[in-house]
Amino acid sequence: MSERTLILVKPDAVRRGLTGEVIRRIEAKGFAITRLEQRHISRDIAEQHYAEHADKPFYAGLVDFITSGPLVAMIVEGEGAVAGMRQLMGATNPLEAAPGSIRGDYATSIGENLVHGSDSIDNGEREIGLFFPDA
Ligand code: CMP
Repeated sequence: MSERTLILVKPDAVRRGLTGEVIRRIEAKGFAITRLEQRHISRDIAEQHYAEHADKPFYAGLVDFITSGPLVAMIVEGEGAVAGMRQLMGATNPLEAAPGSIRGDYATSIGENLVHGSDSIDNGEREIGLFFPDA
C-alpha cells in the first residue's frame, strides 16, 4: 500500500552538507519526494512535533537541537514508505545502526542522528499535518 511519511534532514546533517546524500538515497530506493522545503522551525512546532517525548530527560535538548539551525522537511511516498524509510535511516542510536544505513554510515550520536522519520502511518499523517498543513 502506498504510504506517506514525514522525513526531516536534521540541522546536524544540513550543517555537514549531507542533505544531497540523504535525498540521493531516498530517490535511489525508489520512493517519491512529493514535498520538500528547507526551514528553521520555531520552538512551538518542535514541541508539537516531539510532544510524545515531553516527559523524557532528553526532551529539552531535543527541542534545542532541532531548532538550532535550518532543517529540510520532506513528504516521502511509496509502497511501505514508513518502514522502508526507517530501514534506510537505520536504528535511532547510530552506534547500533547497520552499516549501509544513513545513521550507520554517517553518525555516532543518538541526539544528533541526522534524520527523522515517522514511526507509524498515523504519526506520519499527524507530522505531515504539522509541517505541510495543505498537503
Ligand atoms: P527522532 O527519530 O527524531 O525522534 C526522537 C528523537 O529523540 C530521536 O530521533 C533521537 O534523536 C532522540 N533521542 C532518543 N533517545 C535519546 C537519548 N537517550 N538521548 C538523546 N536523544 C535521544
